[in-house]
Amino acid sequence: MCGPPGAGKTTYAMALVRRGYVRLSIDEVVWRRIGGRDAGLVLETERYDELRNQVRQEQRRELVELMRTGRDVVVDYSFWSRAARDEYKAIVERHGCHWELVHLKADRATLERRLAVRNREEGANAVTVDEGLLNRYLADFEEPDGEGEQVRRQTWG
Ligand SMILES: Nc1ncnc2c1ncn2[C@@H]1O[C@H](COP(=O)(O)OP(=O)(O)O)[C@@H](O)[C@H]1O
Ligand SMILES: [Mg+2]
Repeated sequence: MCGPPGAGKTTYAMALVRRGYVRLSIDEVVWRRIGGRDAGLVLETERYDELRNQVRQEQRRELVELMRTGRDVVVDYSFWSRAARDEYKAIVERHGCHWELVHLKADRATLERRLAVRNREEGANAVTVDEGLLNRYLADFEEPDGEGEQVRRQTWG
């Protein structure tokens, strides 16, 4: 997956899970490990980043194991940097597997509208993204261009 918060990556990934894919999500594991509800807020940013990096490493190994056993996998990360996309493509190719880069696109007003709804929810996949954080994500986001991406702009609401 590739796209900013609110683009619909997790929703899309969950549809693949219903078709038999294994979903890898850092948000999901970090949420469980720190004990759920609002726990992200009580961790200092440094500790939170450390935990996210640790889970990322674990899931990289998990991805390799899953590929070896022939499973279909959806990596539910934002993949905002080209370097990260290139790195994971190389891992997939090294194991003789096939990657797809699904770039979910939505305009800013749509992202804001969806996040306003989602921010009222709780859970691993509804981590609060306020305006400042959305600005930062959008500023840093390196849009895939000529990377073999499939661009999707579906919207159901
Ligand atoms: N294609 C879509 N059209 C309209 N709303 C969507 C779509 N995909 C997801 N949503 C809604 O938008 C919000 C953000 O979706 P989510 O899958 O959590 O995004 P992401 O994982 O990319 O941050 C959720 O409340 C979700 O129900
Ligand atoms: Mg998500």
